Amino acid sequence: MGRTTTLRGGLGGASATAAEQAWVEVIEKMDETYAELVRYEVELEDKNATLEETQGFLASVLASMSDVLVVCDHNGLVQQVNESLEVIVGVKASELAGRLLPSLFVADHRDMVSDLLMRVRRAPLHDHELRLDNGAQGTPVSMNCTARRDHRGRFAGVVLIGRPLGELRRAYEALHQAHEELKGAQRRLLEAEKMASLGRLVAGVAHEINNPVSFVYSNVYALCRYIKHLTEYLDCVHGHGLGAAQEALRARLRIDHTVADIDPLMAGAMEGCERVRDIVQGLREFSASTPRETRPFDLVPVLRRAAAWVARVVPHTLVVEYDLPETLMWRGHPGRWQQVFTNILQNANDAMADLAAPRVFIHAGQDADRAWVEVRDVGPGIPKDAMERIFEPFFTGKRVGEGLGLGLAISYGIVSEAGGLLSAHNHDGGGAVFRVELPVTESGA
Ligand SMILES: Nc1ncnc2c1ncn2[C@@H]1O[C@H](COP(=O)(O)OP(=O)(O)OP(=O)(O)O)[C@@H](O)[C@H]1O
Ligand SMILES: [Mg+2]
Repeated sequence: MGRTTTLRGGLGGASATAAEQAWVEVIEKMDETYAELVRYEVELEDKNATLEETQGFLASVLASMSDVLVVCDHNGLVQQVNESLEVIVGVKASELAGRLLPSLFVADHRDMVSDLLMRVRRAPLHDHELRLDNGAQGTPVSMNCTARRDHRGRFAGVVLIGRPLGELRRAYEALHQAHEELKGAQRRLLEAEKMASLGRLVAGVAHEINNPVSFVYSNVYALCRYIKHLTEYLDCVHGHGLGAAQEALRARLRIDHTVADIDPLMAGAMEGCERVRDIVQGLREFSASTPRETRPFDLVPVLRRAAAWVARVVPHTLVVEYDLPETLMWRGHPGRWQQVFTNILQNANDAMADLAAPRVFIHAGQDADRAWVEVRDVGPGIPKDAMERIFEPFFTGKRVGEGLGLGLAISYGIVSEAGGLLSAHNHDGGGAVFRVELPVTESGA
């Protein structure tokens, strides 16, 4: 890039040559200096480009950090922040520069931050939960704080990095919920296993009782018929007059009294047989494991029928409040489901026998994966020690003769057989709640 100019002028002789020589040297020096300048400029441009590249890289790293970053000078004045911090506090980085570090935090935490600024000179600080001022209640962050030193090792300021706790908390809550669901599933599994082994036991007992009961029942039935014939025959014999010896025997054996007693005795025996037969039938229902006819149907009229049926047979007025969808697709046999809800409603009604205003709420709906019904009463609720056992066959809290303890066991069997879940809990506001859930299948509920 050198430029050389030769001067030609009017000076003559040696002095003219010397002057010319001096000029040439000056011009050559200027050329050299100029070339040097150009080289420096090129180098500077290269350095600038590298610097810009480094700056761009650092800026992109800072911008992609989800953690917040604040850099302060030795007086605690903000020098730089990243985008995450800008977003949380809602103020631009350019406006934050030069502000005192504590002013980025909520008023309650500012003294604590000033204290940290002093302590960090001695050692790095970890996991301090502080709230950044976001104009509302503040955003909690877990802060780590380290001293920044210059090339001579002198304290030059502070670097703070904080992880917003919202994310951590959300992750923790999700974990907690998953754990709770797992515990619930475990409990249900245990419960199902308990009920299944009870079912097997009960099925065996029911089978064993069924045979003798059947022949006792049919024999009693036959006896009733024979007795009718015999009394008719005796009446006839007595009507035609007996000899003295037969009359004496009739009186001694109290034949007339015995004949009069036979009918109520047989009726009692019949009733006893029928009751045992019903119990056996109930036990078989509870332990039924063979799937029966199952089809989709609307549960709403079934619920209304069950409630109307219970309300009709109770002596006092039972108020039933409904919160039901227009239709609720369900699965199984409507008659058997009506039996489930009749049992639950009957129990609710029994539990409120002493109340002046008995009331039940029937609430039903459908979520993404299950349809459900809840029946809540305003009675005393289920006693804590009974809660574990109410679905067991023959568990009853009622007085002798008032309940067999089979209603809920049978209902549990029907619900499980349909692939559903029957559970109970006490409501915070009082009374018991029975919940029936049925997973939704592809073909409707
Ligand atoms: N809504 C309720 N409030 C309070 N306790 C209840 C309620 N429902 C059921 N229970 C308790 O659960 C027990 C078991 O109920 P379950 O229906 O199995 O038998 P039961 O009603 O005693 O007799 P059964 O139904 O065979 O006539 C009841 O005796 C009662 O103690
Ligand atoms: Mg009952």
